[in-house]
Amino acid sequence: VTKPVVILGVFVADTAYRADRQPRLGETILGNSFKLGPGGKGSNQAVAAGKLGADITFLTRLGVDAFADMAKQTWKDAGVKSAVIDTPDSYTGAAYIFVEEGSGNNAIIVSPGAAMLISPADIEAHAELIRSAGVFVTQLEQPIDAALKALEIARGAGVTTILNPAPAASLPDRIYTLCDYVTPNETEAEGLTGIKVSSIDDARRAADALLVKGVGAVIVTLGEKGALLHTKERSEHVGAVNAGPVVETTGAGDAFNGGLAAALAKGAEPLEAIRFACAVAGISVTRPGTAPSMPTLREVEALLAKA
Ligand code: RIB
Ligand code: NA
Repeated sequence: VTKPVVILGVFVADTAYRADRQPRLGETILGNSFKLGPGGKGSNQAVAAGKLGADITFLTRLGVDAFADMAKQTWKDAGVKSAVIDTPDSYTGAAYIFVEEGSGNNAIIVSPGAAMLISPADIEAHAELIRSAGVFVTQLEQPIDAALKALEIARGAGVTTILNPAPAASLPDRIYTLCDYVTPNETEAEGLTGIKVSSIDDARRAADALLVKGVGAVIVTLGEKGALLHTKERSEHVGAVNAGPVVETTGAGDAFNGGLAAALAKGAEPLEAIRFACAVAGISVTRPGTAPSMPTLREVEALLAKA
């Protein structure tokens, strides 16, 4: 049986500019293309889980505006239920995404708007929803005190908890003790531990430092090198799953986390869930956009069958 997944996080409209390079301060350059689409780490993760067939509810605040309408349509299309606190005195946020032509690498500014007002009291008001989950996921785009409160409630009810520590931020030590899984990428692992991560061995050292803080399992995502599962008992590397040429890596971490949550909610073992998540991420990078690049369950199963 599949258990419900609840994700707390942020929706923003992604405004993606492809250009050969970024402008310098005071400079204007011509871009090669522009695309508007749904984004925000938490929402992208929810869309990924929804397209993979999970029973998923996304908790957030939105403004009352055109980008909020985009959010609701996106979730409807992906089979994502939502618990939205309307926030008419703020706005639904947006992200500036620079995508480097050729490499597909990105640089992002995200302004979460209404989602920056998510408070511990909002979380309390949705405690029942969180307790009803089998798997709870959050990130660090909304205020950390809200993430902390939600993780406390989830942990108190025996819900499996995943913290995707993105974007990198400094965290209170207490938050680690509430996490079954923490899923930093290389940059975030370095930000959290001070250990530079450029190899699998480095990732092991950084993961060790997080284990000491009380995390159940650390999963370091390593881009084209796959991911590392690191617990007290074992440390195993899972290779990336190649689905074709890379077009845009933005949102790959979200694809991974949404896939991980969906697989764990179905009762998959951690290594199996990570392999599944690597396939979800592997497909997402072959397509432009973030939420729009999330694959269906059928696509992921087809890739894993031939990989
Ligand atoms: O992880 C990718 C996401 O980060 C983008 O969709 C952008 O909105 C930023 O929040
Ligand atoms: Na993509």
